[in-house]
Amino acid sequence: MTTISEKFVFDLADKDECNSTDYMVAMDAANVKADKIAGILSEDRVALIHGVSQIDADKLMAGIASEFGLSEDLEIQAGFAAIHGHRKNVGNYFMSVNERGEYSFIPPHSEGNSRMSMQLSSFYCMENTTDGGETVLWGTGRDEEKWRGAKEFKYKIKTSRRTLSKTEIAELRMMHGIDWEKDVVEEDDEVLCLHDAPIEGVHRYSVLEPAKKSFSKILGTDRYVCWDTIGSVDWDIAEGFAKALQKAGLFKTPAKFDDWRELDSSSHRKVWSSGINLPSIFTRAIVRKLRKGELIVMNNMSWAHSACGWTPGSGTRDLVAAFA
Ligand SMILES: [Fe+2]
Repeated sequence: MTTISEKFVFDLADKDECNSTDYMVAMDAANVKADKIAGILSEDRVALIHGVSQIDADKLMAGIASEFGLSEDLEIQAGFAAIHGHRKNVGNYFMSVNERGEYSFIPPHSEGNSRMSMQLSSFYCMENTTDGGETVLWGTGRDEEKWRGAKEFKYKIKTSRRTLSKTEIAELRMMHGIDWEKDVVEEDDEVLCLHDAPIEGVHRYSVLEPAKKSFSKILGTDRYVCWDTIGSVDWDIAEGFAKALQKAGLFKTPAKFDDWRELDSSSHRKVWSSGINLPSIFTRAIVRKLRKGELIVMNNMSWAHSACGWTPGSGTRDLVAAFA
């Protein structure tokens, strides 16, 4: 078995709090309104609401999104799930979470990428009777030095052409996720490989771009964010997570397995090892095994989410997510 070096340990022991902490405020659905939750998020804390019906989870999310001017974004994200078909819509705004293999874990990431700039994330628990499946949230640190090694995976182009036709520009955007004006390989990008040549004279590369700050509408400031395109492509972030789970007794494994990497749900997306250790970019952590009827809401830009695996057959884990 591959061992994981000690330097990556983040101590998650005793962080499964049922009640409020410095970072998380727990409340009962009966006496909570959207503006109160918005206030908690504005203090950069996570809101946990117990005893929420699925209908009320939708209503609360609509109210919270509205507080931050994100109503349209909430609807758009739910619409994307239906269009792409990779997630199932549940209620008005929630969608199923991605399926994963037996025992597999999801390393820390904030939903989406720097272009999408998703502000708000939430998870609602329909059922969670497995022997694991804990949700682990990570508060991002503000020490900018610590983010210097972080890089975001992107597709960018190189071309000697000065102009493209409107059709070519539209094709690049719609079919290949490229913004003709902006997504050009720059000097400080690390080029990984040539991906394809979608248009005559235009080559598309996969690159690692130095992480840049994004504007958080909830906090009113620019923040470094561990986007999915940062957290899920980096072996070291996953390694730090796996090690922290092992130390806290939350790492479920089959009786026989060769390498913790086999249990990483995003191992196929890994492109590099950053050298980052979790306690440098994340300064706080919350472990919560969500119970039926619990809704957890956070600022997607200042809190990354991750999840533990569980023993197959030990129960059912049915969580849905909403983003804005
Ligand atoms: Fe996610």
